[in-house]
Amino acid sequence: MTSIEHNAPRKSLWSKHKIFETNSIILIIGVLLVISVGGLVEIAPLFYLKNTIEKVEGMRPYTPLELAGRAIYVREGCYNCHSQMIRPLRDEIERYGHYSLAAESMYDKPFQWGSKRTGPDLARVGGKYSDEWQRDHLANPRALVPQSIMPGYPFLTKTELKFDDIADELRANRGSGVPYTDEMIAQAASDLRAQATPDHPKQGELEARYPKVQARDFDGDPSRITEADALIAYLQVLGTLVDFKLYDNKANIR
Ligand code: HEC
Repeated sequence: MTSIEHNAPRKSLWSKHKIFETNSIILIIGVLLVISVGGLVEIAPLFYLKNTIEKVEGMRPYTPLELAGRAIYVREGCYNCHSQMIRPLRDEIERYGHYSLAAESMYDKPFQWGSKRTGPDLARVGGKYSDEWQRDHLANPRALVPQSIMPGYPFLTKTELKFDDIADELRANRGSGVPYTDEMIAQAASDLRAQATPDHPKQGELEARYPKVQARDFDGDPSRITEADALIAYLQVLGTLVDFKLYDNKANIR
């Protein structure tokens, strides 16, 4: 003779599950426990792995002048309208170039990926325009792009760059993992001057410390170093350090 009791599953460990299914507080505690263990397993290794970013040839820390320009970029809030991250989608790559690699922003503290594109992505704007174009565009975007809604920054060419604290700036970056050497820190102000002054005698030293550095007068006024010099030096280096011909076979999605 069969009865419901006979067909009921054997009592096992799983029958304890009933506690979770009948008591919402215990269920919530259980869920939180499971999520925290899962989270820890995913997040904890990131803190002791030596490197979570694939190394890419050509990347180097910013020169002192580029770093000063980057600070102006942040100060002026350029990131509110410009992203610096090209996504691996066909239309982005056709417009902006090779998609961004994590390593390309590994020395950006904090990163400038941005979250809004009122203007175009700037991750590879380096070398796209001349220094004069950049200078005139920054001063009055509508002089070059009549329909532009970008604000003008005419004060940049008129404001001398303040860089007496540039060595500390490098030191602070080193504190968060950018590999500036003692020598780079000691020579920071001298390197900054060398990059912004045409035919400066210390340009060889600068080049040895920062390969592929572009050293010249950026704002059209060689007699002094302005905020425009720094910002244009920064814009002109964006996206120029990695030679993508080396990576095209491996990473080209076209
Ligand atoms: C209110 C939004 C806004 C802000 C803020 C802004 N821009 Fe723009 N930017 C634009 C727009 C829109 C364009 C496209 C039209 C043009 O070229 O002027 C543009 C274009 C550019 C371009 C040319 C890009 C290309 O590939 O043609 C550069 C370089 C640029 N901006 C740099 C900057 C910098 C540097 C700052 C900060 C000092 C800045 N922008 C602040 C909106 C903005």
